[in-house]
Amino acid sequence: MLLFGLLFVAVFGGAVAESPRERTSLNAGWRFSRFTSNPDSLSYAALKQWILPSSNDFITREKYQRPSGTPPGSDVEYVQSSFDDSEWDPVNLPHDWAIKGPFGAPGVSGSEGKLPYNGVGWYRKTIALESEDVKSGKQLYLDIDGAMSYASVWLNGILVGGWPYGYNSFRLDLTPYAKSGKNFLAIRLENAPNSSRWYPGAGLYRNVWLIKSNAIHIAQYGTKVTTPSVSAEQATVDLNVIVENNSNSSKKVDLITEIYELDAATGKAVGSTKARFDSLSISVAGGTKQVLNSTVALTNPKLWGPPPTQTPNQYVAISTLSTGANGTVDQYETRFGVRTIGYDGTKGLLVNGEPVYVQGVCNHHDLGSLGAAFNVRAAERQLEMLLEMGTNALRTSHNMPAPELLDLADRYGIMVMGETFDTWKTQKVVNDYHLLWDEWHEADMRSYVRRERNHPSIIAWSIGNEMPDQSSAAGATIGKELQDIARQEDGTRQSTAGLNNAGPTTELAKVLEIIGLNYQGEGKGNSWTSTYPTWHNAFPNKMIWGSETASTVSSRGTYLFPVTPNKTAIVGGAGSEDNAKQYVSSYELYHPSWAASPDKVFEQQDNFPYVAGEFVWTGWDYIGEPTPYDTQSRSSYFGIIDLAGFKKDRFWLYQARWRPEVPVAHLLPHWTWPNRTGQVTPVHVFTSGDEAELFINGKSAGRKKTEKSSYRLRWDNVTYTPGEIIVVAYKNGEKWAEDARKTAGSAAKLNVTADRTTISNDGYDLSFITIAVQDEDGEVVPEASNSISFSVSGPGEIVSTDNGDPTDMVAFPSTTRKAFSGLALAIVRSKPGSSGSIKVSASSNGLTGGEVTVQAG
Ligand SMILES: *[C@@H]1O[C@H](CO)[C@@H](O)[C@H](O)[C@H]1NC(C)=O
Ligand SMILES: *[C@@H]1O[C@H](CO)[C@@H](O)[C@H](O)[C@H]1NC(C)=O
Ligand SMILES: *[C@@H]1O[C@H](CO)[C@@H](O)[C@H](O)[C@H]1NC(C)=O
Ligand SMILES: *[C@@H]1O[C@H](CO)[C@@H](O)[C@H](O)[C@H]1NC(C)=O
Ligand SMILES: *[C@@H]1O[C@H](CO)[C@@H](O)[C@H](O)[C@H]1NC(C)=O
Ligand SMILES: *[C@@H]1O[C@H](CO)[C@@H](O)[C@H](O)[C@H]1NC(C)=O
Ligand SMILES: *[C@@H]1O[C@H](CO)[C@@H](O)[C@H](O)[C@H]1NC(C)=O
Ligand SMILES: *[C@@H]1O[C@H](CO)[C@@H](O)[C@H](O)[C@H]1NC(C)=O
Ligand SMILES: *[C@@H]1O[C@H](CO)[C@@H](O)[C@H](O)[C@H]1NC(C)=O
Repeated sequence: MLLFGLLFVAVFGGAVAESPRERTSLNAGWRFSRFTSNPDSLSYAALKQWILPSSNDFITREKYQRPSGTPPGSDVEYVQSSFDDSEWDPVNLPHDWAIKGPFGAPGVSGSEGKLPYNGVGWYRKTIALESEDVKSGKQLYLDIDGAMSYASVWLNGILVGGWPYGYNSFRLDLTPYAKSGKNFLAIRLENAPNSSRWYPGAGLYRNVWLIKSNAIHIAQYGTKVTTPSVSAEQATVDLNVIVENNSNSSKKVDLITEIYELDAATGKAVGSTKARFDSLSISVAGGTKQVLNSTVALTNPKLWGPPPTQTPNQYVAISTLSTGANGTVDQYETRFGVRTIGYDGTKGLLVNGEPVYVQGVCNHHDLGSLGAAFNVRAAERQLEMLLEMGTNALRTSHNMPAPELLDLADRYGIMVMGETFDTWKTQKVVNDYHLLWDEWHEADMRSYVRRERNHPSIIAWSIGNEMPDQSSAAGATIGKELQDIARQEDGTRQSTAGLNNAGPTTELAKVLEIIGLNYQGEGKGNSWTSTYPTWHNAFPNKMIWGSETASTVSSRGTYLFPVTPNKTAIVGGAGSEDNAKQYVSSYELYHPSWAASPDKVFEQQDNFPYVAGEFVWTGWDYIGEPTPYDTQSRSSYFGIIDLAGFKKDRFWLYQARWRPEVPVAHLLPHWTWPNRTGQVTPVHVFTSGDEAELFINGKSAGRKKTEKSSYRLRWDNVTYTPGEIIVVAYKNGEKWAEDARKTAGSAAKLNVTADRTTISNDGYDLSFITIAVQDEDGEVVPEASNSISFSVSGPGEIVSTDNGDPTDMVAFPSTTRKAFSGLALAIVRSKPGSSGSIKVSASSNGLTGGEVTVQAG
């Protein structure tokens, strides 16, 4: 799944040459320690003059000079190889130091997830280098995909540089500090309290790489591929390649770039050369960069586009740099897609000329009980379930994701709104990004756009979310600057921002290319007054979308009474919540004061058909922001899918609208109510049919048709009697779909199933194991909360357990977990390098246990 010691073998000029570029994972074998109070004399303020030069490639103003003399920190024992770290934790990356808990970390609010993300963390590792790696004319880089936060890096006791923004990727040049033999790397991170509005994670939580190349090589993010004209017969492909010369030798360099189709599953070039750019030659002065430009025609291009009407085809451009005497000196792969995007004030988003309604969700970066530690399979599972629901777009709220997430989006055809900031110059919480704004925003914006610009999945840049400066003149100046940076680095996508307050007369509104509205488009809370018409009238040619919508809250499987008769209701009213347990009813109608039910959002989107679509808050639950229980609970209630990956009822409401071709009929609530016999218990149905009939113990409760502006069928006056309810949905008079709920007996056994029973033994791959508490007849017991113990044998381990309950304060690594609404989850990982059967067993007092076997190999 990840590439270790990747070595390209290039066929060039008839001779087989090994590309000198090598990208090696540095994920294994670190030592780590966290300190709740500062263990050293260091701080960002003390190190800043040495860290700012790390941003030089991404700023247009005067470059920072590294101060002369010995940089700070060399005297700190943790940067010295002689320090005995045998008592520190042995860890492999990606690593989130806070996720293991416990919950209730001092000074960390429920909004931040109650986990110990704050404090100072040190990571230490030895790297072996050959004399070949460090000889003159060679180059060594450290690539860190994300470090939370305020990273500073020492090699062999010397401060190299760093990067404060925890969500961005960065590169440091190790060449001047490296030596043959053992090299010692030490990384310091620091998370201030109150630095985030949600759970940010902590540590080296994404991949870390060592890059070895020649001094003359293609620069970081050093290519740009665009397709300015596209037809079925031919696409024009423009290529820019930045060649960087850190050498002193004098040789001319030649560049050849060839285009191949990309195999989505393997990520490799396949088949014959589809196009070849003209060979280019250049001489690059030492210590500088030069851009080589070229254009080629690609005939009969296979276009990239979102399913189901389009296919996400990809290409790869392989650029080979060579010198006459030395042969190949570098080789660099650029994946790209051939497609056009259009933004239309009336038709909405156009992909390859086809209007594509944006059926998007917002997601945070954490992966539930795995925390912020990035894992390709966990991210892929999130996307797979969103695709099943009919999602075609993702907003990476509110910051840059792991680079691999964009690879997945390219592969699956998911359109991405890439977002950079939650705050600009004005704070939301005391220690957030506003502290870095003046010195870092250009570098963070520019490097992110440069990193992602070749991904066909990126359809828009979001330069900010609900910024306190959105309505001020200063905010418009910032917005223009950020949008201009996106234009300079990319030039093919429009930019937007999530505006929750700003109106059409603000200066920022005039600046932004796409109008992104958070909540105000559907009308906030009980208000049905939409701002879409005033925006559309003010900017008839600008595309408008709901950049953040709904924020419906619910606890999976929890149904409370009475049920509001309204289509949308602010949480807090009768029947909406159980304050003692901190549960919100799952009739999927309740939301905070600024928000809306899915039904209301759908209605308003249909009222204003020029709106390009929406990004629902949120696709998946995430850690922190447990509105409406911000101080008590530890994870969100907003997700359509809960933190463990179990679908809430809303999943089928969205699926019915977004995938009308799928026969959906979904009933709620469950039908096991020992204390409700004779009481009114409303039954709601989500269906993609146009009519449905409800049966209660075989007796019809009537047939209902879907009406305009109605997105669910409601039988609100059903009297509960134990037994079975069945709904039969029809479409055009034909039977279309069916669903049923049966009254369950008491808990008797556990049903254990794995999402995948064969996984790779690369040490990263995961199997997600679901445990359902069932009665004797195999019916899931809907309110079961039995305590389940997990064990594992064979070459695997249980990484974490969860149940989707935002109030559960049992630490995620616990191998004992209570079921929530009948379900629990265990995440199992293979041990690197060992093959065989991993047996996962689940047991619970008084119940028949279950097990499942997963093959690792
Ligand atoms: C070519 O190889 C020689 C000998 O290894 C080396 O000194 C020189 O820097 C190389 N030139 C380039 C452009 O890599
Ligand atoms: C963090 O914010 C909380 C309130 O949200 C406040 O009580 C606390 O003093 C703050 N801590 C710091 C270090 O600012
Ligand atoms: C280039 O020359 C300078 C000055 O002679 C030397 O310090 C430096 O190490 C050389 N760089 C490389 C990459 O050979
Ligand atoms: C790299 O820079 C050096 C020093 O300016 C120059 O002599 C050499 O020609 C350059 N190499 C290439 C391949 O342009
Ligand atoms: C190469 O293309 C870039 C942008 O596409 C442009 O800014 C630059 O001037 C071009 N360089 C040359 C030498 O044509
Ligand atoms: C239903 O909506 C109306 C109009 O906004 C409001 O006055 C009423 O309180 C709502 N009822 C409930 C139960 O939420
Ligand atoms: C039913 O009511 C009894 C008595 O109030 C209570 O003990 C029991 O927990 C209730 N059962 C359920 C499933 O709510
Ligand atoms: C609800 O059902 C009861 C009993 O079946 C009936 O008396 C009542 O009129 C119904 N109410 C509504 C609003 O349909
Ligand atoms: C166990 O759960 C799986 C997944 O929901 C289901 O397909 C299967 O039928 C269940 N097995 C039994 C014996 O209930």
